Amino acid sequence: MRRRGAWAAMAAGMALLAAGCGRGGGATGAALFATHCAGCHPDGGNTVNPKKTLRPADRQANGIRTADDVAAFIRNPGQGMPAFPPGVIPPGDARRIGAYVIAAFR
Ligand code: HEC
Repeated sequence: MRRRGAWAAMAAGMALLAAGCGRGGGATGAALFATHCAGCHPDGGNTVNPKKTLRPADRQANGIRTADDVAAFIRNPGQGMPAFPPGVIPPGDARRIGAYVIAAFR
């Protein structure tokens, strides 16, 4: 039984990896968001500055409408948010995170 559990966990891990690879080699936007962003933006909120959530009403008021806008914002964010340079989040990953943010939080 213990062995079966380990195999199931491994199979699930491989499926996740395969899903990431299918989208161009990197992790998915959702996985990248969980790694880099969800600490301060759980469920698209904002634990540091509650007025600046990732939901359209807030971010659009600050001119953030597209995946590219999100990708640009993380390079040079506002107060309280660390910048994510390309060495930390390469451009392709930044766009995937952006697309995830636009699609996931409404
Ligand atoms: C340490 C906490 C922290 C982390 C980690 C963080 N953010 Fe932020 N984020 C903030 C804060 C604080 C603001 C408000 C900044 C401001 O005043 O412009 C913000 C603002 C934003 C906004 C603009 C929201 C609005 O309503 O104008 C976006 C988009 C955003 N973050 C995306 C991300 C993404 C994508 C990541 C991961 C790559 C990330 N953030 C990681 C704290 C964080």
